[in-house]
Amino acid sequence: MDIFHIEGPVQLSGSVNINGSKNASLPIMAATILAPGKSTLRAVPYLSDISVCGKLLSQLGCKLTRGQNDELSIDSTVIDNPVGEYEIVRRMRAGICILGPLLARCGRAEVSMPGGCAIGDRPVDIHIRGLRELGAQIHLKNGYIIAEAPNGLKGKDIFLGGPFGSTVLGTANVLMAATLAKGQTIIESAACEPEIADLANCLNKMGAKITGIGSPRLIIKGVKQLQPVEFEVIPDRIEAGTFMIAAAITSSELRLENCRLNDMMAVVDRLRNIGVTVDAENHGCVVTRKCSIKTADITTQPYPGFPTDLQAQFMALLALAEGNSVIIEKIFPDRFMHVAELNRMAANLRKEGPAVIVAGVKKLIAAPVMASDLRASAALVLAGLAAEGTTIVSRVYHIDRGYEKIEERLNPLGAKITRQSI
Ligand code: EPZ
Repeated sequence: MDIFHIEGPVQLSGSVNINGSKNASLPIMAATILAPGKSTLRAVPYLSDISVCGKLLSQLGCKLTRGQNDELSIDSTVIDNPVGEYEIVRRMRAGICILGPLLARCGRAEVSMPGGCAIGDRPVDIHIRGLRELGAQIHLKNGYIIAEAPNGLKGKDIFLGGPFGSTVLGTANVLMAATLAKGQTIIESAACEPEIADLANCLNKMGAKITGIGSPRLIIKGVKQLQPVEFEVIPDRIEAGTFMIAAAITSSELRLENCRLNDMMAVVDRLRNIGVTVDAENHGCVVTRKCSIKTADITTQPYPGFPTDLQAQFMALLALAEGNSVIIEKIFPDRFMHVAELNRMAANLRKEGPAVIVAGVKKLIAAPVMASDLRASAALVLAGLAAEGTTIVSRVYHIDRGYEKIEERLNPLGAKITRQSI
């Protein structure tokens, strides 16, 4: 139950290296189930979600070893217990993406339904629909998804769109299962997120036959077997976006190394739109804000639209803009737990259904605030960097799920954050 004490306002300077992507690492770790043997993944960040995923794979029978730097080896030679326990899956929803690989590898899987989440209702009906289309028999029992395909899976044309557009982990589950299915599968309305493209590239390196990567139509020719792989995951675009907003909210200049601007066009567009400069440089960029923050309207959308995982952080920034902005959350309509906490810091935010009216204020004032989920907690830390006084953020464990020791990366840049264990 750590808490952060954050002194503000501060100005930041220097450079920060962006870590490997959490949301690419998680499905790629699950993909190693498909190929019996030892796979080695690089740039896998040290995050609590990664450790929880590791526990889940160990429980199935995999052997995991952490190597030098951010290397992670997963030996999936033995999968003798194809069960994803509630105790683990409830802590990390992405655990659901072992369902497809287990079904394809073992012909049977039992995975706990993920349960509730602070950012809203997160059903897995589309995952189940897609796997049923591949021929799996699926029923629910005592909170578990029981999936069976004793004679293997069969390729099919599948429309995977849902009420909010594509599903990221739903695409991951069906894509992974289809790699070992008999015949061809077409996934229409597939998620186009860079993390899904990274998963597909990794699967192709394991011997899969996937085309249309990065587009909403994925074509998968099933193969008999896949091979273990050595693969480096892409940089984390959400972490990069969070550091860009750290530079903007503190009117600083920061150099980001190891970030791919191509994966972040919507974010960079909005930042430039409000007066922040983002200059590409080698394998990264320099982010600077010198003028006042202009207003902007943001609507979150599936990739390549504005990512919902940067909505809270951008709201903290627009809280200091000169005028009113509107933020519409189209992916998780209830993803606004941070609104009340930012208002405790003297922001002026008003919720109207899936939208928030952000009336810009001259300054934020420090206060004790409570983190509720991963990205909301990042927004509170960013607000604390700009606020006058000492902000106390509790339930920091939320931020450790997606940011590796964030205080040890911000303090060398000029932040004053202390972590206190209570
Ligand atoms: C992934 O979650 C990310 N998680 C989330 O990041 C991210 O917010 C989300 O995609 C959207 O970009 C990981 O990659 C581990 P979805 P996922 O299925 O796949 C609805 C973070 O902060 N839906 O694309 O679970 C769903 O309710 C996390 O790192 C159904 O209705 O999200 C939502 O409204 C938080 N039925 C929408 O689709 C389904 O079966 C998009 O969800 C599946 C989804």
